[in-house]
Amino acid sequence: MTINSTVQAVHSLFQPLTTEKISVKNRIVMAPMTRLFSPGGVPGADVAAYYRRRAANSTGLIITEGTTINHPAASNHANIPTFHGEAALNGWAQVVKEVHEAGGKIIPQIWHVGTARKQGDPVSNPEVLPVGPSGLNVKGDETGKALTEAEIADIVQAFAQAAADAKRIGFDGVALHGAHGYLIDQFFWEVTNKRTDRYGGDIAGRTQFAVEIVEAIRKAVGPDFPIVLRISQFKQEAYAAKLANNPEELEQFLAPLVKAGVDIFDCSARRFWEPEFEGSPLSFAGWVKKLSGKPVITVGSVGLNVDMTGQHTEDSKIETLIEKLDNQEFDLVAVGRALLADPEWVEKIRTGRDEETLPYTRESVATLY
Ligand SMILES: Cc1cc2nc3c(=O)[nH]c(=O)nc-3n(C[C@H](O)[C@H](O)[C@H](O)COP(=O)(O)O)c2cc1C
Repeated sequence: MTINSTVQAVHSLFQPLTTEKISVKNRIVMAPMTRLFSPGGVPGADVAAYYRRRAANSTGLIITEGTTINHPAASNHANIPTFHGEAALNGWAQVVKEVHEAGGKIIPQIWHVGTARKQGDPVSNPEVLPVGPSGLNVKGDETGKALTEAEIADIVQAFAQAAADAKRIGFDGVALHGAHGYLIDQFFWEVTNKRTDRYGGDIAGRTQFAVEIVEAIRKAVGPDFPIVLRISQFKQEAYAAKLANNPEELEQFLAPLVKAGVDIFDCSARRFWEPEFEGSPLSFAGWVKKLSGKPVITVGSVGLNVDMTGQHTEDSKIETLIEKLDNQEFDLVAVGRALLADPEWVEKIRTGRDEETLPYTRESVATLY
């Protein structure tokens, strides 16, 4: 492909998007990626420069790495940035300022790891036990404490406080990590949620924890601040897992979340082009858009031919991505590893210089650039 035909081909990716609550200058989102470069939980000047570099090179919207709410068991590593305490929030305020100066938008991904916290994790408070809906990890083993209703209420409030702080600091919205087998997803999934109170039960019942978080956030931030929810079928350490086995179950899952006030669903999958259910070519993001009526973000191996588990694929074609975007199967496209490896990735794609993009390697993860 010549540069001009490449630029023509990617034209759709660089069209602006206006949704009810947020406008973005193009369709490319930096996917949330934990980097462990915030000692003591405080994001410093290097973290601000890292995000600014992506904004300055045409990334329309950045969703930050997961950043933990104010709860003693929320984190599983002392270098994960927190989203509470004066020092960390001042650090985040600097990140926002720099990204805005560079012409980008930015939303923090607020997070509680639940029972993904393990004994021996390098945390500052190792004596605190992991918590979850039923104290079970993703394998179904009892490794933590089941939360009481009072403890759940405290965590809901901690999420709401983080969202209020995100708004106060100047972020363009708030994103909840409801995917990959962490706390919110542990409530969603039948293997990790065995509760018999109002937080358990069928697939709609298991959304109650997230529903209360979204409602509390909405109360704290008002009607206009965008709330993004990341969801996934798969779990870290359980890639074949599914929350919803068919479109009917997915619809039952999404309805309470839409009603609670989610504005955008960030639909995490390993490969953006894969059909989610038999009998239809629609991807996970495509199904979520169709069934929720909300704007959605797709993700999964964009610009790469190795998926997150290291499996090789030749199917990650930019033409397929554009075709699905043009068919309005999704609204936004998140890019993870390609953008971690190369801060100029979006600008190089925009100007037809895809052959100049830097590969994702082990060194990319070890460096914050
Ligand atoms: C180093 C690394 C850290 C990640 N951390 C997070 C995270 O904090 N929150 C999250 O929702 N997803 C996280 N992910 C998943 C990415 O957001 C993304 O969904 C995944 O990498 C697939 O996109 P890609 O194929 O473009 O890399 C992480 C991925 C990587 C590679």
